[in-house]
Amino acid sequence: MNRQYPTSRLRRARSANFARRLVRETTLNADDLILPVFVIEGENRTESIDSMPGVQRMSIDLLVNKAQRLVELGIPAIALFPVVGENKKSLSADEAYNPDGLAQRAVRAIKAATPELGVITDVALDPFTSHGQDGLLNEQGYVMNDETVEVLVKQALSHAEAGADIVAPSDMMDGRIAQIRAGLEIEGYVNTQILAYSAKYASAFYGPFRDAVGSASNLAGADKYTYQMDPANGDESLHEVRLDIDEGADYVMVKPGMPYLDIVRRVKETFQMPTFVYQVSGEYAMLKAAAQNGWLNEQDSVLEALMSIKRAGANAILTYYAEDVANWLSTK
Ligand code: PBG
Repeated sequence: MNRQYPTSRLRRARSANFARRLVRETTLNADDLILPVFVIEGENRTESIDSMPGVQRMSIDLLVNKAQRLVELGIPAIALFPVVGENKKSLSADEAYNPDGLAQRAVRAIKAATPELGVITDVALDPFTSHGQDGLLNEQGYVMNDETVEVLVKQALSHAEAGADIVAPSDMMDGRIAQIRAGLEIEGYVNTQILAYSAKYASAFYGPFRDAVGSASNLAGADKYTYQMDPANGDESLHEVRLDIDEGADYVMVKPGMPYLDIVRRVKETFQMPTFVYQVSGEYAMLKAAAQNGWLNEQDSVLEALMSIKRAGANAILTYYAEDVANWLSTK
């Protein structure tokens, strides 16, 4: 009797830890991570966020301590999201480019204490508009493109002036990368980098973030469908990315992460650009909630989710888990 043997036994290379390590195609380490943080006024202050257990808004002094820890853990960069009081919000969002605003002061403090940590700022008006939209409204309530871009340029310049390494427009207005790049060049900020939120979808997964920055109540059920991308569209993301590259983006971003891994792959394969992915607040909340219920093993599922984002083509990942992950990886 002639026994049939498989010609290939893929299990051989899985049979021992040494072999699994040798054939591993994708790696995840602290160098891949960016921590998004929420900044508030005051001293020695933290606030918890109901829909993001484990994430806290914090005052600048505490943020500086956090920045020091990130450097020790080998995390290359931090992304700042200011949370200001209602008294700083208006229809014109002037606070966005206040040279002494919360974000601008946070940048200065972090760059002074930890100059080696990359500081990324959010260029968008939603923290500063009384209606929670990312831009200025006309009388019909439509977000005006070119008028908004003018304010975004001022905001980006105020961040660069404060010392931001990377300005990251997350607003999805047309043509803003070109205008911001031109503004930076004219003012001499030739080395200030631009991370373009290029393929940013109108996603339900931003819900907890809007709680965190306090824009959810201001939005009062309104949506962002006239500027963020339709989740049904893939080809359009390539068009967006192409424009941003042509307009001078140094890095492009796909957001959210796990529901959009096909987009990540297509963007990476089409453009071979440094491609960042934002594992957004809703992705964090899902993982955290399941973990807190004992339904998922937190460490294993978070590492798998982030590895999948890297496998899809991401060069770096913004994740609220950045600090945890760097800790886990350093003890693995
Ligand atoms: C707004 C902004 C959003 C996020 C980052 N910048 C939310 C939105 O577009 O409404 C979402 C991040 C997250 O959900 O973690 N400019």
